[in-house]
Amino acid sequence: MKGQVIVSDGKLAQASVFTSLKGLVDGAAPRFRTASEYVEATLRAAILSGRLAGGLALRQEELAEIFGVSRMPVREALRQLEAQALVDFVPHRGAVVTEISADDAADNYAIRLALEPMALSLSIPHLAEPDFVLAADLIAEMDEEADPGRMGELNRRFHLSLYARAGRVKLLLLVEQQLAAADRYLRFHLAAKGREHMSQQDHRAMLKAAGERDVPAAVQVLEGHLRTAASTIAAFFASRG
Ligand code: NI
Repeated sequence: MKGQVIVSDGKLAQASVFTSLKGLVDGAAPRFRTASEYVEATLRAAILSGRLAGGLALRQEELAEIFGVSRMPVREALRQLEAQALVDFVPHRGAVVTEISADDAADNYAIRLALEPMALSLSIPHLAEPDFVLAADLIAEMDEEADPGRMGELNRRFHLSLYARAGRVKLLLLVEQQLAAADRYLRFHLAAKGREHMSQQDHRAMLKAAGERDVPAAVQVLEGHLRTAASTIAAFFASRG
């Protein structure tokens, strides 16, 4: 995480959260079934639009006051936002708006593009029936999954299932680290664009090519998959200004 200095105490931060949310809060409540959905949706919109800046601390009692609800729905909303990678829980500070940046996302996808095609190429000749079954199961689970937090996890496991037989321990360790870092961008992306933006057709095509031991075809799909994700997230940041 970038070492940005944040006003975490006192009136300034408080005024900032309040001013940012004012206007979004007014009149939004009747559209939601529960208080926690209302808080979650309002905060999600404020974070995705950049109105609540990365690094800003979100205090439960303060939010409860702004939204005119008790602390329980606020806590639940923050937990949901954490699953979407929009909020991080930081020791001694509590919930903090996730710091993500266009540069960090671009870096992450550049590293993945360098490492994953290599891992996939080395792995494909050695993949066995249980690997294909696992990969297919994970695709099926992603089709059913609505929770973006779980979706990120399933996507990571799917990718790893196809790289697992690469036989290069350190390479796979690096791949795993980058996939874990990529998770927040995937979740952020899904929170912004909706779950149908998960590129399941790429996942299916990659599995099919791997099953046919067609290394160039599988690598081509994977590279396209990562490039599309990288440009979508870049476009998202550009649109946010
Ligand atoms: Ni994927």
